[in-house]
Amino acid sequence: MKNYRIALDGPSGAGKSTIAKRLSAELGFVYVDTGAMYRTIGLYCLQNNIDTADEQKVSSVLPKIKIELKYVDGEQRIILNGADVSSEIRMNEVSMAASKVSAYKEVRKFLLDAQRNVAKEQSVIMDGRDIGTVVLPDAEIKIFIVGDATVRAKRRHKELLEKGQNISLQEVLEDIITRDHNDTNRAESPLAQADDAILLDTTYKNFEQAYASVLEIVKSKMS
Ligand code: DC
Repeated sequence: MKNYRIALDGPSGAGKSTIAKRLSAELGFVYVDTGAMYRTIGLYCLQNNIDTADEQKVSSVLPKIKIELKYVDGEQRIILNGADVSSEIRMNEVSMAASKVSAYKEVRKFLLDAQRNVAKEQSVIMDGRDIGTVVLPDAEIKIFIVGDATVRAKRRHKELLEKGQNISLQEVLEDIITRDHNDTNRAESPLAQADDAILLDTTYKNFEQAYASVLEIVKSKMS
């Protein structure tokens, strides 16, 4: 069978990762969560008191960072220098650190080959901000998922509460607005819709409806 690459891009909280996980199970494709890789670099900086605002310093510690992706029962686990950090990287403070370090050229270069390599010999669903534009510009299927910031914040807030994190909706909304701004306005590989990506707005869709729309797009492209 031919290999397919599905690029799912968009701002945080639009539903990319939940959709990507279910889609990967349904199609048997490998799911690659590229945001998790940026989060891992953000986490390393927080753990080692590296100022994430200091681009030179962050760039200089990259050789000390080894990130591995493992798949356990179809779920991506992320390993930082031998330790499974899949849960830690979901902390809200790590989100902001990831958004900061992801603006740096050296950080993006550091992760680009790893991201392209996983997509070389297998079918993948990769989610992120620049997959359709930079990482896999030749992807067969590209979808750009957007949604109103308040609706996205409510979804993120619910997820964080379920994970036991104590945070207000207002804080989550402010973080989302700041991250949208950082991710969209940076010089290096900003969040952008590829010319050939299909736009999907999930503001008024629940998960099942959003998933059904994605599946329809994917099936039409694969047939
Ligand atoms: O998707 P996420 O929220 O887990 O991503 C965390 C941060 O990483 C996000 O603020 C932007 C950055 N990111 C990126 O710059 N490029 C990607 N391909 C994926 C994520």
